[in-house]
Amino acid sequence: MNFKHFIYMSIAILILSCQQNPANINSSKTIDAQVQELLAKMTLEEKIGQMNQYSGFMDFTGPEPDKGQAATKLDHIKKGWVGSMLNVHGVENVRAVQKIAVEESRLGIPLVFGFDVIHGYKTISPIPLAEAASWNLEAIKRSAEIAAEEASAAGINWTFAPMVDISRDARWGRVMEGAGEDPFLGSQIAKARINGFQGEDLAASHTIAATAKHFAGYGFAEAGRDYNTVDVGTTTLYNVILPPFEASLEADVKSVMSAFNVLNGIPATGDQFLLRNILKDQWDFQGFVVSDWDSVGEMVNHGYAEDGRDAAKKSVLAGTDMDMESYHFIEELASLVEAGEVDEDLIDDAARRVLKVKFELGLFEDPYKYLSKDRENELVYSPKFKDEVSDIARRSIVLLKNDNNILPLKKSNRKIAIIGDLAQDKTSPLGSWRIAADDGTAEPLVEAMQAYEANNTINYTAGPQLIIGETKFVKELKVNTTDRSGFDEAVKSSKNADVVIMNLGEHGLQSGEARSRTRLGLPGLQQELLEAVYKVNPNIVLVLQNGRPLTLNWAEKNIPAIVEAWQLGSFSGSAIAQVLYGDYNPSGKLPMSFPRHVGQLPLYYNHLSTGRPNDPNQNDVFRSHYTDELNTPLYPFGFGLSYTNFTYNNFKVTTQTSSNAIEVTVNVENSGDMDGTETVQVYIRDLVAQISRPVKELKAFQQVKIKAGEKVNLTFTLTEEDLGYYLPNGDWIFESGEFEIFLGSNSQDTSSKLIEL
Ligand code: NOJ
Repeated sequence: MNFKHFIYMSIAILILSCQQNPANINSSKTIDAQVQELLAKMTLEEKIGQMNQYSGFMDFTGPEPDKGQAATKLDHIKKGWVGSMLNVHGVENVRAVQKIAVEESRLGIPLVFGFDVIHGYKTISPIPLAEAASWNLEAIKRSAEIAAEEASAAGINWTFAPMVDISRDARWGRVMEGAGEDPFLGSQIAKARINGFQGEDLAASHTIAATAKHFAGYGFAEAGRDYNTVDVGTTTLYNVILPPFEASLEADVKSVMSAFNVLNGIPATGDQFLLRNILKDQWDFQGFVVSDWDSVGEMVNHGYAEDGRDAAKKSVLAGTDMDMESYHFIEELASLVEAGEVDEDLIDDAARRVLKVKFELGLFEDPYKYLSKDRENELVYSPKFKDEVSDIARRSIVLLKNDNNILPLKKSNRKIAIIGDLAQDKTSPLGSWRIAADDGTAEPLVEAMQAYEANNTINYTAGPQLIIGETKFVKELKVNTTDRSGFDEAVKSSKNADVVIMNLGEHGLQSGEARSRTRLGLPGLQQELLEAVYKVNPNIVLVLQNGRPLTLNWAEKNIPAIVEAWQLGSFSGSAIAQVLYGDYNPSGKLPMSFPRHVGQLPLYYNHLSTGRPNDPNQNDVFRSHYTDELNTPLYPFGFGLSYTNFTYNNFKVTTQTSSNAIEVTVNVENSGDMDGTETVQVYIRDLVAQISRPVKELKAFQQVKIKAGEKVNLTFTLTEEDLGYYLPNGDWIFESGEFEIFLGSNSQDTSSKLIEL
């Protein structure tokens, strides 16, 4: 190489490395040192910019916006005043915006692109509550891995998932987005999901950063009304609400989203106790806290901040690092710092946290690394995801009732009537929170059944419509309660069928954010239809499609078979067909109690004992009960049947006094004639403690596949860590004494042994 070539080559390398490494940081240093080096170059406004997140405003590949918010956002990106965008997705869109940040802002700091990848990007897995019903951590992790692979191919770096809020109230529409009512199961699932999204290497192009949300207490909204006040004691906070968040930190979650609600009078986004004391100091969280959408601004409505300026100040003092779409950080923080009301160290710390995650994602090495059009074409809606996403779908199905073994369906020469508007719906099974997935991309039940078993005659009649008019995420739905068109025809179609499959429940958008309900029965005309069909043909299999526990008393009393099929995503239809025909033996167990009546809510298995515990056999008025309904749920937490039977034998508990470890052993036999999967559950009760402890708490479970006629021996070990708890002041303790150890196939049907430690 001659001298001229050498110079050209050096210039080319320099240009290339400046493009690849926009802020020109010495990449041989540690990430922390690189962040420091970058921070030292940044103005106050640029640091605040890292704390500012905007939602996408236009088709970025289209013409430049010239007025309003869109123009402001674009201008702010150019000034380096934006750290992140949400709702910009697709390689072309992301590239167009990233290019502006990297090429037109002074330091060229790349944006991080966030998106609600809740249960898939375009290929949709079951809603998270349904996945939780699988109790299969590997499958749940795999589902998050697939979501990350597909979303990253569309340019997304960061998801606002998992939602790890515990909830005990099915009126709250967002129960569909979580893992149910139990902190132990919820914590295991939180870790599985985070490990799935983030993988082993965050910088790899198929992994994305995760968010544990909503910190904290959002699932305890009073009366199940979304965004409502949360008022819980610290015992519940420490023992029930916080554990899945702490578990998320164990899985190295990169961000935490604060909640909309007030917790005991203080909006979570401005709560120093939650964000600063617990999350950042006590738990040593190293990632960053993002607010929820305008939850900074909403502190004014809560009556906790005077105006946007006060709200920005209170949020930053509390520990919020990034503001989602309220504008108050970018508008107010610089002057708050100049006025001495916010210490610049807090700004540095927040910007440092955001930048660190950007470095970890590899965005400084290559801001366009997630942006390959070929990869997007190959992976978005890729058929390669089908088998695994279908697998998690069938694992999520819970068999609630199966009298006289009406299921599985026989495979030959049967006349099957399918009834229900939902059975033909290609959108509803996608559920809520799947904003990138296209309407009409789910497999409906009717088509799947028709394709599945050629020897049966399938006759489909929709019956009355469930929803009238548009079904949109951002629009209120109108449930049909009056238009009976198709009603009589549906009843008639069931008359001569050998078996009737009724696909009833909620439309996919009847649960999710802001979809609280006061009535939890089958909406619209569906209950009436079910009863009318039952009169002419009681041989019914009720296949439920819903995003939350429903009240199903009449069905439980009258309908021989009930299958909880939730909203199962893109491959819903064939997953249900596999279960109905017995090609998959159902193995799901409920992650939330199903109430008998909405008046029982909040309802959860791990409640405390009252001073007057109920005994339904005693004719005593002055006990904790309802005069018009039982206390117990219709279907308890952990419940789910199989086409086979499992028999439990030799349940033993031994203690090791030296370490206070407990060993629980049991022998489980598949005593039926079909291979099956059982989830064996271990619960504890601390009989006497410094504070009243729950009557039962899940502490371990194992899922095992057992061949017909075979047995397995299972061993569970419980340690002090499983037996201890948090006091109301947040101190964790283990107290020796008597414990009751329960083992069984759900939270209600258990055997127990007493032990002393
Ligand atoms: C509001 C929701 O509460 C939150 O979960 C979501 O991530 C954001 N909107 C962004 O869409």
